[in-house]
Amino acid sequence: MKEKILKILLEADDFVSGQKLCEELQVSRTAVWKAIRRLQEDGYRIEAVTNKGYRLTHSSEADVLGQVELERALEPLSWAGHPVIFKAQTGSTNEDIFALSEQEYPQGTLVAAAAQTRGKGRRGRTWISPENGNIYMSLLLKPGNDLQPVQAPMTTLVAALAVYKALLELDLPETLRIGIKWPNDVVVSKEGGEFKKICGILTEMRMEEMEIRDVVVGIGLNINQTQIPEEVISSATSLKIAADRTICRTELTAALWRHFEEDYEAFLSAGDLSPLRETYEGALVNRNREVRVLDPAGEYSGTAKGITEAGELIVIRNDDGKEMHIGAGEVSVRGVMGYC
Ligand code: BTN
Repeated sequence: MKEKILKILLEADDFVSGQKLCEELQVSRTAVWKAIRRLQEDGYRIEAVTNKGYRLTHSSEADVLGQVELERALEPLSWAGHPVIFKAQTGSTNEDIFALSEQEYPQGTLVAAAAQTRGKGRRGRTWISPENGNIYMSLLLKPGNDLQPVQAPMTTLVAALAVYKALLELDLPETLRIGIKWPNDVVVSKEGGEFKKICGILTEMRMEEMEIRDVVVGIGLNINQTQIPEEVISSATSLKIAADRTICRTELTAALWRHFEEDYEAFLSAGDLSPLRETYEGALVNRNREVRVLDPAGEYSGTAKGITEAGELIVIRNDDGKEMHIGAGEVSVRGVMGYC
């Protein structure tokens, strides 16, 4: 009922009379009024004017997240977010996507949640995902033969770039710098301070024989969280804390997948990250900074220069000036996210 009223209000350009709502939904005026109250409690700004009815007032400051809003915001996209499934809470959106893939859901299926109970991070870590104004979401990719297993990790860099581009579209303070810490942490720095993580991406791939069966791109974005746990306060923050304003999760979600859709197609056509490399390098906070490479064969220091077309980090070693291409493993970066 609440959702049906929301849909009608979203589709209307002006006031919708209480009478019209009652007739369309075959319910009493009291029932309509109660549903409107519930929507207002959920954060929707709905004007109620005598003799006119109800009108949804849009505000870029309002944070809304739900099935109806997501469907509407993602509608203009070609395939990403078709379909979208919103869950107030789930175990892990990555796991949900794998389950939906089994049921033959198509490429572009998106699961978005306001909370996760078993959120997964990289390297087997947990992604703490309470309901706190953040968003947790995963997209299904079924690239078939268009993507070879060795190319799949590059998808993560495409996703980081999409998050970065979507954030740049927000009206954020000029003193806020947004960047990417290689390979896929999106970070922000407030007034020249340390870069702190606001987004983590976990890309998982399943194989069938020698082919990719499916790929899931999972993104956790700290958006309107107001408290950061003590253990991670030096390395993590949220957009709201950094920008001092509330961000609409639905709008950001749509912008992000719009960029992803476009960049993923460019990446698939090229077969590598060459069409995205320049923009990615412009966002790279590691660029021209000292990095310490934790190579199992021996640690070394160097200067990060950019990325290869395959998304490896290019590092010039301090000791012998050799150019190294780092594809996997742990790279710590001086001056970024707590490493000094
Ligand atoms: C990281 O460790 O930096 C990656 C974290 C990825 C978390 C996201 S939240 C949505 C999706 N579902 C999961 O279980 N994990 C990813």
